Amino acid sequence: MELREVIGRRRSIRFLLPHRPVDLSKIQRMLEAARIASHWGNVGSLRALVIERDKAPQDVLDALPSPVSGYQIQLAPVIIVWYIETAAVEHAGERIRELVNLGAVGFGENKKKTVEETLVPLFSQIGDVLKLPGMGEVDCGQGIAQATLMAFEQGLGTCCLGSGNPDGIREKLGLPDSCRVLVTQTVGYPAESWEAGGQRPRQPFEDLFQLNGYDTPFPRDEKVVDELREEGMIQDAAPVSWREAELEYLKKALDLTGDGLL
Ligand SMILES: Cc1cc2nc3c(=O)[nH]c(=O)nc-3n(C[C@H](O)[C@H](O)[C@H](O)COP(=O)(O)O)c2cc1C
Repeated sequence: MELREVIGRRRSIRFLLPHRPVDLSKIQRMLEAARIASHWGNVGSLRALVIERDKAPQDVLDALPSPVSGYQIQLAPVIIVWYIETAAVEHAGERIRELVNLGAVGFGENKKKTVEETLVPLFSQIGDVLKLPGMGEVDCGQGIAQATLMAFEQGLGTCCLGSGNPDGIREKLGLPDSCRVLVTQTVGYPAESWEAGGQRPRQPFEDLFQLNGYDTPFPRDEKVVDELREEGMIQDAAPVSWREAELEYLKKALDLTGDGLL
């Protein structure tokens, strides 16, 4: 599958086959993709704790559901708890030195002296600010996005889940105080079709992006849109006509109760 098709197919897949295990090599591929994502200063603060549902204690599983469609934890054979290790920024000075020494950042004869006199002290001073939510979370999002695309490329479906009590999850999993739980991601083979009802709506392109000034929406060329539609990235908008029937089928097949919102 071309990358554009993988991007188009990536959709929150909430219904997973609970009985079909996921080989850990596939999860490793997701983690490898996350690991090589870009991070500011190459600090690398993204971490993940992978939970195999069959091996997890019940009290851990009970701590994970989201306030929205928390039933997903019941279905997922694998759950990835993505978190940020804020203490990683304490090594920002070493990381920037490493980048300079490798020839990735900077040029010129004096670059090693300059990095010691300017960037290493700067990165050491700003560490506490950079532990706050902000740039670190952007890094983590990039890593999680790469892992998600790798999951879809391997035929897996995933859905990110927020938590009403991320600190509770952190404590339950024994993660250090320096960590913040970001998101829980359910992973497994889809029980629903790839369409999963169709492309979920997005805000209008022109409202989101600007060109050269805040008052100028980025011009959206319909020719490009048509090309991306042909290439499989832009897909039919939700809902497909048979979505409600599919949801009824999934509810029965997976023995789910209620309206599935909580
Ligand atoms: C950080 C994050 C947290 C999310 N939390 C939840 C959640 O708690 N429950 C849920 O059902 N979906 C959750 N989602 C999925 C979004 O609702 C979904 O991405 C959005 O509706 C767009 O649909 P799509 O992913 O299929 O394009 C989350 C997604 C992200 C990126």
